[in-house]
Amino acid sequence: MRLIVVSNRVACPKGDEPIEGGLAAALVPAVKTSGAIWVGSSRKQTGSTEKEGFAQMQPLGRGAVVTVGIPNELFGGFYEGFANSALWPAFHSRADLIRTNVEHYVSYREVNTLIARPLLRLARPDAMFWVHDYHFLTMASELRKLGITQPIGFFFHTPFPSRDIILSLPYHGELIQAMLSYDLIGFQTEVDLENFADYLQQELKLTRNDNVFTTNQGATRLASFPIGIDVEQFAEQAVSSANRPEAARLRASLEGSKLVIGVDRVDYSKGLLNRLRAFDQLLQCQPELKRAVTLLQIGVPSRGKIPVYRQLQGELASLVGDINGRHSEVDWIPIRYLNKGFSRPTLAGFYRAAHVGLVTSLNDGMNLVAKEYVAAQNPLDPGVLVLSRFTGAAKQLDAAVVVNPHDIDAVARALVQALAMRSEERRERWDAMMETLRSSSLDMWFSDFVSNLAECPRAERCAWTPDVVPTPVRSRQLELTAIP
Ligand code: F6P
Repeated sequence: MRLIVVSNRVACPKGDEPIEGGLAAALVPAVKTSGAIWVGSSRKQTGSTEKEGFAQMQPLGRGAVVTVGIPNELFGGFYEGFANSALWPAFHSRADLIRTNVEHYVSYREVNTLIARPLLRLARPDAMFWVHDYHFLTMASELRKLGITQPIGFFFHTPFPSRDIILSLPYHGELIQAMLSYDLIGFQTEVDLENFADYLQQELKLTRNDNVFTTNQGATRLASFPIGIDVEQFAEQAVSSANRPEAARLRASLEGSKLVIGVDRVDYSKGLLNRLRAFDQLLQCQPELKRAVTLLQIGVPSRGKIPVYRQLQGELASLVGDINGRHSEVDWIPIRYLNKGFSRPTLAGFYRAAHVGLVTSLNDGMNLVAKEYVAAQNPLDPGVLVLSRFTGAAKQLDAAVVVNPHDIDAVARALVQALAMRSEERRERWDAMMETLRSSSLDMWFSDFVSNLAECPRAERCAWTPDVVPTPVRSRQLELTAIP
């Protein structure tokens, strides 16, 4: 069997290079061991003359990474436009942040078409396609149009919100109908699955048969597959990284102060402002904790061309400045805020040095930082995970100190509880979480999805049917520009 994995962001890291994003970090080891071919955007925009074709192919373990260039005139509308200013806010229940237009949508659809074409070359009869994430919702319908009848699966790394939120997403009907060309659609949690099924039943009036929906495009099965991490490998990495220079310098610099760590892309879904406010609250209400606790917040810059992300960068910088200005002393600052990424081994060493891992996402598909923090701990003296209830991870890691990130006082209280937690309770909670992580590993996630995809009934798959997307998007754009 030949497995072809498709995602917008791909990675082929050299040595200790940081890998951007949880999806890419998860797929690197999976591709290395499975021998899959991983196709994605090169993120190098091309001139419009080079519209098609593989830019580059590189080996990655037993597998390979193939990148495709996206023409300049489509990239912005696709990535910053529809994917990250319409789909991302909608899927993270921030309909108020949707900023999009028909040109973004047309670019999005065209990029899906463009990436589908070179995939044809990889479509051996025994091939299976596994498409990841919101950038490529319509990829299966494009592949079907090209005559691909092999199994095609999709995995949502983001949450899938309730129907009323999806209704605020422009073109939601076309997008979700196009998704019925997938044989299997995977979700992080049962809640996400139920929201999707509810949309199909209520909006498209489809009948649910267990978790299978049958249309003129064939049968689509829904299932949840919570993504995991390679627990043992990450734990080993944390042990060996603890003595690397950066982790050693971090520990030495703490001078006995307990460390709280947060690691995120700078994104409004991560609840970073609330996290800083909670830390501020902690220091205001318990001034005796000054010098006794330090927050290390790594905020990896992200999507900087989108105004709401730039605004958040500014707000975070100013809030950190304000909190540090009020609480710092000549030889101590409460928040160390670093706007850059670190390699996974370095992060593993940082996690192991931290007494508390703090995750305050307002909405998060899974949150692999939470899982990695747990895996990196010293079993004899583990730290405590304070985890937002609005992450996929919280559905599994109920032995964490679970918090409502909108309740700043509650997060501050959870920090007090975590910092004071006795060793016995820390070990009990950690053991329970490790058991969960071991029973839901990255390998299991990958092989579970692939074997479910292989078992999908090979119903007759027809090419794109006209009633699914009534108007070709280009002509819709032309119609729109013709409005006086
Ligand atoms: O859907 C989740 C995800 O793919 C994460 O893995 C990653 O952090 C993010 O979205 C991708 O962001 P970008 O590729 O825009 O940096």
